[in-house]
Amino acid sequence: MSLVYPAHFETVIKMRDGREAFVRPLKPDVDREKLFEMYSTLSKETNYYRFLNYQPVTRWIVEHWCDVNYDDKMALVAIVNENGRERIVADSRYYLDKKTGEAEIAIVVHDDYQEKGLGTKLLSYTIEVAKKSGVKKLYAYLSPTNRRIIHVVKKLGFTVKWVYEVGEYGAELPLQ
Ligand SMILES: CC(C)(COP(=O)(O)OP(=O)(O)OC[C@H]1O[C@@H](n2cnc3c(N)ncnc32)[C@H](O)[C@@H]1OP(=O)(O)O)[C@@H](O)C(=O)NCCC(=O)NCCS
Repeated sequence: MSLVYPAHFETVIKMRDGREAFVRPLKPDVDREKLFEMYSTLSKETNYYRFLNYQPVTRWIVEHWCDVNYDDKMALVAIVNENGRERIVADSRYYLDKKTGEAEIAIVVHDDYQEKGLGTKLLSYTIEVAKKSGVKKLYAYLSPTNRRIIHVVKKLGFTVKWVYEVGEYGAELPLQ
């Protein structure tokens, strides 16, 4: 189980408005408070679409989200500089089942930064990281009313199908 910070996965994403977001693997000790700040200030709709159910955000839950190992529990955060203060504005992550090589992927962009191209670029970069890390397949469950993410994942090559048993759309992307 890897715990060495993978600095080689640091990158910069340029948003549609020309602003830049620094993207790097989550650093639990450094990011805990800023991650809490991001998740606890999401709109109800964004929270609902991220978790497929409204999920009240507590420090205890954020602690759980900080539990990454850069191996089967991987998270990337996007950080912007707002008047000299760093703010986490997006979190993209996957959880890999090492037995199958399949990983569930999820992403959220804070409402203040949606529709700037950040989600598409961050998801695309997360796919690249997963591929380089040996993940065989990515999958996600998506609310049928979440037209934006359905558009984005299709654009990035996922196949999207209705999963009757789950009552949500299932998106899949083979990587190998
Ligand atoms: C979904 C999400 C990650 C997308 O990130 P984003 O930065 O807002 O998205 P982008 O700006 O990169 O791209 C949005 C795309 O959706 C399109 N779009 C927006 N609303 C749409 C709609 N109602 N129907 C179809 N497409 C739509 C935009 O035109 C754009 O596509 P384009 O670049 O081809 O023009 C972000 O909005 C979010 O965090 N939503 C809430 C959480 C969530 O849904 N997570 C996914 C499930 S895990």
